[in-house]
Amino acid sequence: MPFGGGPCTIASITLGATVFLVSCGQSGDGAGSLGAPDGETGDAASVDVTAERDGGPMSQDALPLGVGEAQTDALGADTPAIEMRVTQLLAAMTLDEKIGQMVMVDYGALASPSDVTTYFLGALLPTGDEAPSPNTPSTWLGMVDTLRRQALSTRLRIPLLFGIDAVHGNAKVAGATVFPHAIGLGCTRDPALVAQVAQATAAEVRALGLSMTFSPDSDVGQDERWGRTYESFSEDPGVVSQMVAAAVQGFQGAPGLLACPKHVLGAGGTAWGTGVMGGIDQGNAVISEAEMRSVHLPPFQAAIEAGALTMMVSYSSWQGTKVSASAHWLTDVIKGELGYRGFLLSDFDAIKQLGGDSPRQAATAINAGLDMIMMSSGHAGFIADVKTLVQNGTIAASRIDDAVARILRAKLIAGLFDEAEPYGGALGDVGSSAHRQIARQAVHESAVLLKNDGVLPLSKSARVVLAGPGANDVGVQSGGWTLGWQGVTQTGATAIGGTTLLTGMQNAATSSSLVTYSWDGSTVPADTSVGVVVLYENPYAEYEGDTDDPSFTNTSSAQNPSGHTIYDGLAAGVVSRMAAANIPLVLVLLTGRPVRIESWLPHFGAVVAAWLPGSEGEGLADLLYGDAKFVGKLSKSWPHDSTILPLSSTLNAGGPPLFAFGVGLTTP
Ligand code: BGC
Repeated sequence: MPFGGGPCTIASITLGATVFLVSCGQSGDGAGSLGAPDGETGDAASVDVTAERDGGPMSQDALPLGVGEAQTDALGADTPAIEMRVTQLLAAMTLDEKIGQMVMVDYGALASPSDVTTYFLGALLPTGDEAPSPNTPSTWLGMVDTLRRQALSTRLRIPLLFGIDAVHGNAKVAGATVFPHAIGLGCTRDPALVAQVAQATAAEVRALGLSMTFSPDSDVGQDERWGRTYESFSEDPGVVSQMVAAAVQGFQGAPGLLACPKHVLGAGGTAWGTGVMGGIDQGNAVISEAEMRSVHLPPFQAAIEAGALTMMVSYSSWQGTKVSASAHWLTDVIKGELGYRGFLLSDFDAIKQLGGDSPRQAATAINAGLDMIMMSSGHAGFIADVKTLVQNGTIAASRIDDAVARILRAKLIAGLFDEAEPYGGALGDVGSSAHRQIARQAVHESAVLLKNDGVLPLSKSARVVLAGPGANDVGVQSGGWTLGWQGVTQTGATAIGGTTLLTGMQNAATSSSLVTYSWDGSTVPADTSVGVVVLYENPYAEYEGDTDDPSFTNTSSAQNPSGHTIYDGLAAGVVSRMAAANIPLVLVLLTGRPVRIESWLPHFGAVVAAWLPGSEGEGLADLLYGDAKFVGKLSKSWPHDSTILPLSSTLNAGGPPLFAFGVGLTTP
């Protein structure tokens, strides 16, 4: 089976009891095309998913069996059964039923579960900090099941979509496997592994009856001052495209789940100073159309070719116009040139950032090409507004039909119409040992060894002191979008599950007593042979992670425009106390981006960029002790100075880096 947009082959999709054989094909090859019609691909580079890893070609055979077959093919033209169902449903639907499908609203904003039936709602989500209480897999399943059943008591029994930000595992759910964030996965250069991570995540999402994940992030982050740098696989469009294709196919490889690549378009290319509160997130991409097409569009083309059933549109602007209002990008380029047949979802309350009153905002967004609107509340008012807009001709009835057809098509292709009740139920998948093993492998491949004068690997019989609060905190290891929007910090692994680096090292050493912990670096027993210093960023998400200077010594109150403390000022003390011990030192960085370390480099014999590895601290311990070899290569250039930001090999901007894109040593 080709891995996205390859030569024609046969695959099956199941609709009800019927199995359809469909052919698929390359963009522009006629039947089954997923990409642009002939000659209409613009400048966007097509994706080479056979790209090299560590100098060697990636074998398609390395992909997990069956990944993505149905979805890759099913969004093509050869789906007469699906199109027939879509046409029949549309013909039967009232305007209210159609507009209801175009709503995705916070489930917490429902007056009661019956709002789903009353308003024919198409989709729900939990906000970043919302979870049923207590936060357990079974309470999630119960809540989701109750709401999904509401949709089945409507006249046409159109199934409800229930989305969640499963951006590094289904990490809002306590006890789920937390995988490395995307910046680390980009360093693996291993799409087959990324597909496995997505498959495992999909299983943990589907287990709870949830049917959509707001991932993979398909942004090509150019400026590491951006608080979403860690959500982006790389500054390089080729790396991002490969990983996005793999992730989409992994997520959609089994029925019941829609991937949602985001954020269309250019969110990773905005300028510092144009974003929220003078930061960069949600800002303005002041770039040419050619740069937009060559840097930011390719991952979305890859996502379309891989069969993405939905994609999320960015809060950000291009040349001063909100992308949510851009018919050029949404309708002409994404749906037109690239031939995208899934639906476009707005970001959360993003249409409220458009001009005018609520009806005008709705009209602008829908007429630009948005098909489903994600909102915190106000679904009844939105539906009434859109109904009036259709009745007075501001929004054409055909635009509504197109939007709803796209939504129905996606629900049909994902198999949501065929699901048995109750939904989900494979609760044993959540945090399973098989998934944790995949996460551990992902930690092995994503960490990047930046310096090693021979101190690594450590001997398992050496006496080691581990210093720095991040050494014993799964919350810090996991970063934002873990349990809550901004992530959590805690001692140990109580709520999230998994292991800290400290526990992992204690488990691996010949005796656990050989590995001691000194959170501030002040207690180093006399016979200690090596110190491991763990420096970290406090967890953050979105604009709360924007910072003008990604540096551990940037402790000014203005380090983040919204007041979020990313750098708490503890690092310098830990480094100087450990340096005073006069023993070989290893630096382990738990950060969502390259953080400046240039002045501290001489203190350390080895430096490891571990990014935000997630719940499996044992994976890091494996690397430090030599049970796994370092293979990761930087997915983002590393600055020596904040004056050279943005620093990107893609744009050839910023001057010489401290460590260049692609750097990564290995251990013997
Ligand atoms: C973010 C999206 C996210 C959505 C739903 C927004 O604030 O920009 O990436 O998927 O919230 O939580």
